[in-house]
Formats: sequence, structure tokens, C-alpha cells
Amino acid sequence: MTKITFIQPDGAEKQVEAADGHSLMDAAVRNGVKGMEAECGGACSCATCHCYIEEPWFEQVGPAEGDEEGMLEFAFEAKQNSMLGCQVKVNPSLDGLVVRLPTSQG
Ligand code: FES
Repeated sequence: MTKITFIQPDGAEKQVEAADGHSLMDAAVRNGVKGMEAECGGACSCATCHCYIEEPWFEQVGPAEGDEEGMLEFAFEAKQNSMLGCQVKVNPSLDGLVVRLPTSQG
């Protein structure tokens, strides 16, 4: 299990224990984190799992590539540190990761 802190759209932090191999989206949805809508269920086709990887983690997680990069073009207010939560797999090297959910998904 890997500790991930989500900063929800209202600014409230929620720390969860995420199973390795699951996606950030899975971890958020299973733990009732607000702001991870994930309308397509993880198929990389909706961009409603858009999230920001907080410093200093982005280098380790990103950047988005391929389908994910293309789908991020549809995300509202995409930034340099944007990722799709369903495309980031949890692993022990991400222990302590901080992920911010966009206010537009609140
Ligand atoms: Fe739809 Fe990630 S859940 S793109």
C-alpha cells in the first residue's frame, strides 16, 4: 500500500492508502475523494479524472504520453503538471505523492 494525499477541489486534504498497481483514479474513487469524476471508468476517453501532480513529484510521475497526452487537450485548465488519474499506476516509489484535483471538477 502506498500513501497518497489528494487535495480536493474545496481545498480539503484526504490521505488514502492506495493498492499498488491500481490507478490514482481507482484510489480516489474507492476512498470517496471529491473531484475525481472518471466518467469513462478509466478508458482514457473522458478527461474527467484530470489532476495535477504537485511538486516535487511530477518528474517521477510524468509527463503524459500518447493517448493520455491527446486526451489532456480536452481537460479544462490543463497545466504543465496535468495528468489523467486513470493512467497513473500506484507503486511504492510514489509513497507520499500529493495530487491536486481541479476546482472545475468540484
Ligand atoms: Fe476517463 Fe480517465 S477516467 S480519462
